[in-house]
Amino acid sequence: MAATTTAPVKRKIIIDTDPGQDDAAAIMMAFGSPDELEVLGLCAVAGNVPLSYTSRNLRIVCELCGKPDAPVYEGALKPLFRPQVTAEHVHGKTGLDGAVLPEPTMKAREQHAVDFIIETLMTEPEGTVTLCTLGPLTNIATALEKEPRIAPRVKELVMMGGGFFEGGNITPAAEFNIYVDPHAAKQVFAAGIPIVMMPLDVTHQLLTTKSRVEKIAALGTRPGDVLVEWLAFFERFDIEKYGSDGGPLHDPSVIAYLLKPELFTGRHCNVEIEVDSPLTVGMTVVDWWGVTDRAKNATVMRKVDADGFFALLTERVGKL
Ligand code: RIB
Ligand code: CA
Repeated sequence: MAATTTAPVKRKIIIDTDPGQDDAAAIMMAFGSPDELEVLGLCAVAGNVPLSYTSRNLRIVCELCGKPDAPVYEGALKPLFRPQVTAEHVHGKTGLDGAVLPEPTMKAREQHAVDFIIETLMTEPEGTVTLCTLGPLTNIATALEKEPRIAPRVKELVMMGGGFFEGGNITPAAEFNIYVDPHAAKQVFAAGIPIVMMPLDVTHQLLTTKSRVEKIAALGTRPGDVLVEWLAFFERFDIEKYGSDGGPLHDPSVIAYLLKPELFTGRHCNVEIEVDSPLTVGMTVVDWWGVTDRAKNATVMRKVDADGFFALLTERVGKL
């Protein structure tokens, strides 16, 4: 009897994002991995820049990846309760400064992102859809509020956000994605969904050093060239701030985990979100040493094989 090889089951994912040059790198990595990932839809959320720009940017990235028919949805215009905070100082006015690209021709779908997330989770078989969040968690929290039955149907929520030993990047205590909408993060971490968290403790190890960027440039492809331009813009802020060789590339850590989880190590912990203190609002309080009896609600990553990550990123972007 000839051995039969079964093709690996593709992971169905929804990407929730606030592009952002690093979001763009993550989306490129996902589209460059069609054998492993089936992108059911991409949802824009206000974050790095207002929704009008994150939607525009998401569609620019889809077209750059040769996916003009990708299902793009528009979600939350602002956080649940807090005033909107954006990060043009990092990402530029448009959120995708650094490369000059034509305005997108593809349109976002009519359906609201929150309704798309609910409909998809309620119709796909239970436990088969992974939520990949690259920005504030407003869309996810709103979907949970509107239809709590989706929580047990989520396979996994893999998110970029938070920080613990590494502190914060928008305040001394808080990382941007959580800080923008701490109430949304609090709801998501309390929903009982299996969470994998990529905090600054991991992403600050993923520096876009000159040699790593040169390997992306060596691809000699249009997507690779555009990514290099985006990284050159995006990293300038962090190089000044951290004095490092390159800036931290945050969001692709989420997609890298789906493709090669062995690149990362962490532990299952309790994570709580501060929502009230003016000093520490948005802080992810991670019980890394297990000093409380609070329920463990997230796998928090702390270490990553940075060279392995960049090799994977470059390989997948090279497939576009
Ligand atoms: O703190 C880094 C995170 O905030 C990244 O997702 C970046 O794109 C911004 O959204
Ligand atoms: Ca982001």
